[in-house]
Amino acid sequence: MKSPLTAAVVLATAVSASAVDYTKDIKPVFSQKCYACHAVSKGKTKGDVALDTPEELAKVIKPGGHIIPGDAAKSTLLISCKLPDDDDEVMPPKGKNRLTPAEITALETWITEGASLTAGGSAPAAAPAASMPAAAGAQTWTSSDGKAIQATFEGMKDGGVLLKMQGSGEVFLVPLTRLSPESQAQAKAAAGQ
Ligand code: HEC
Repeated sequence: MKSPLTAAVVLATAVSASAVDYTKDIKPVFSQKCYACHAVSKGKTKGDVALDTPEELAKVIKPGGHIIPGDAAKSTLLISCKLPDDDDEVMPPKGKNRLTPAEITALETWITEGASLTAGGSAPAAAPAASMPAAAGAQTWTSSDGKAIQATFEGMKDGGVLLKMQGSGEVFLVPLTRLSPESQAQAKAAAGQ
């Protein structure tokens, strides 16, 4: 556990400064740079990876998958996009149509924030549950401004909720007031209050 101040600062980033939205920022990149070889709709699932449907994304975005929610450093999809042009495993292959540094940053931030397909938008089609079969007990938590993270409830402390981030395993103390009314209720239910 970090010092309370550090945790609060990091938390502000983790919960409320979320700027990356899947539909707006990530999907267009996948569509332009990956779907040619990784889309069910195009009949291409190279390396058994498709990125165009919630069902296929659910196989990619999970602990042990190519995208590990909350853990960009271990997400092989991101790692392969960052390899040098001449690496055999670089994605897209052979250094063609590479992701721009801004696209890499967006991807990295999105994964760190939990790789949600719906955060910031209205929740379509059971995608969050399907894409986060998840570590035991991990749930979706939303901040008062509507951003979502995946984390496990660890207890209540000092008027806040201790949340263990899925993926990185870091624990943050989140003030109740930072959470949406639903997540506040979820915390109280989990605490048996
Ligand atoms: C020109 C076709 C092509 C494009 C475009 C492409 N890939 Fe791939 N991708 C492949 C092939 C072929 C494999 C299988 C490689 C292998 O198994 O060695 C693969 C495998 C992968 C894997 C699995 C790697 C592993 O460790 O098994 C991931 C993740 C991946 N691609 C992500 C992406 C992403 C993200 C993009 C877009 C930014 C992308 N790919 C664009 C052809 C492509």
